[in-house]
Order: sequence, then C-alpha cells, then structure tokens
Amino acid sequence: MSKLSNTIISIGNHKGGVGKTTSTINIGAGLSRMGKRILLIDLDPQANLSQSLGITDPERTIYGALKGEHPPEPIEVIPGLDVIPSTLELSGAEVELSGEAGREYILKELIEPLRGSYQYILIDCPPSLGLLTINALTASQEVLIPLQAQYLALRGLGKLLDIIQKIRQRLNKELKVAGIFITQYDSRKILNRDVVSSIEARFKGEVFSTRIRDNVALAEAPTQGVDIFRYNPKSYGAEDYLALCKEIVKRSSHK
Ligand SMILES: Nc1ncnc2c1ncn2[C@@H]1O[C@H](COP(=O)(O)OP(=O)(O)OP(=O)(O)O)[C@@H](O)[C@H]1O
Ligand SMILES: [Mg+2]
Repeated sequence: MSKLSNTIISIGNHKGGVGKTTSTINIGAGLSRMGKRILLIDLDPQANLSQSLGITDPERTIYGALKGEHPPEPIEVIPGLDVIPSTLELSGAEVELSGEAGREYILKELIEPLRGSYQYILIDCPPSLGLLTINALTASQEVLIPLQAQYLALRGLGKLLDIIQKIRQRLNKELKVAGIFITQYDSRKILNRDVVSSIEARFKGEVFSTRIRDNVALAEAPTQGVDIFRYNPKSYGAEDYLALCKEIVKRSSHK
C-alpha cells in the first residue's frame, strides 16, 4: 500500500447545486478504486451524501460526534471507502455550537485520531459559509471548488475566496486551494464553453483540465444508493471522475 499521506480536503462552494456532493462521493470512490483508503464526512444537514450512498437513519452521525455524545464512527460503504454520515439533526449544530470555546476547531479535533487510517479524508460542505463550513476549512489542508459552467458561476466565488483567506490568516495556516474544477459541462452549449474560457482565464493554473460532463448516470446513481463506478463504470461520469482523481493525486504528489 502506498504511504498514508493524510490529506484532508474540503469540497466547498456556498452556491447550491454545483456538484459538491456528487463530487465528494465520486472522487472518494475513484480514489478508493486507485487503492487509496478514503473517509468521506457528510457535513451537510441535507444529508444528501449519506442518502446517496444508501445510508438512512444512521444511529451515530457527525452531529452526535460534534456534540461530544460519542466518538466519530465511520461506516464502511465498500472496502476502502468509509463514511461518517449526517442527518437533518445537524441543522441545529450551527446554533448549538456557536457559544462553545474553540468552536471552529471541533471537527479538526474529532478527525485527528482518524487521520492515520486514511490517505484522503473528503468533507462534503453545506451550501453556506456558516460554522460548519468554517469547521471543515479549519480541519482541511486543501479545498477543492466545483463550479458549474453556467452564467453567473463566478458570482459569489470572491466571497468564498475571502473566507478561505481569512481562515488561512486566523485559524489554519496550512489551507490551500487545491483547485477549481468544472461540473455539469456540456460542450454543445456555447454558453458553457464561454464560461469555461472566462474561468480559465481568470484562474490560470488553478483549474483542473478534467471537466465533469453533464451525464445523467451521475444523477441516477444516488437513486440506487451507489457511486458512479458501481452504477455504470463505462459512463462519462465514471470516466471523468477517474480522470479528475488522477489529476488530484498527481497535483498532491508534486507538493
Ligand atoms: N455532472 C453531472 N451531470 C448530471 N447531473 C449532475 C452532475 N453533477 C451533479 N448532478 C446533479 O445535480 C444536482 C446537484 O448536485 P449535487 O447535489 O452534487 O450539488 P451540491 O453542490 O452538493 O448541492 P447542495 O448545494 O444542495 O449541497 C443533483 O441532482 C445531482 O445528481
Ligand atoms: Mg450537497
């Protein structure tokens, strides 16, 4: 087995529906196919990641762990791919934890004892910049930003980059933007192509060359409770996420 590199990556963008959850699941599943040990953390009260992997009504969740009720308890989805699930209860966490001393570091402390068991820990962030996302970014070394190739995709990105910068200054010096990647790409749409060109021009060198194409299999897989590789390994979705995983591993080995 390759060395445990212990990289903790948040998949974040406060814009809703840009592909954070789909990407967390399928980057995780892709990396596990490459022989890496992976932990996914569902940090969104919508619990889409948990449900998309067929985990409903879990007893021990990230919420209970954040509240200090029990240790974080990863559930094995397939060998090499574990998940700490979430439920709607997590929606109370932002308020309930807001008065705690060191409230930004709660997740970081929870993950610490698990780090040695995984090569990559991926955190699916909620579509907000509240305390949960701040906890995710404080616990991470890297953040991956999915962007949809649509009009106004860049709107709001400045705010996310500002928060990342502040977290780097005040809470987590290690934090880096690992890169931006395009999701739900349709090369037949001129608008998609134009938006991608403007994103690439603005963020030179930070945009992954793999684009995740619009592919219905990616939307269907969660209805069966599986990742894209188990749902349809020959789909564009599987092909694209595997290519993205290879780029992620290559970039992280160059650091
Ligand atoms: N490449 C793709 N092709 C087709 N459908 C996709 C693709 N990526 C995501 N989707 C679909 O788009 C919707 C939004 O994706 P997803 O839930 O991953 O976004 P999100 O950023 O996690 O959303 P939220 O902000 O609500 O957490 C889902 O229904 C998902 O199945
Ligand atoms: Mg999501």
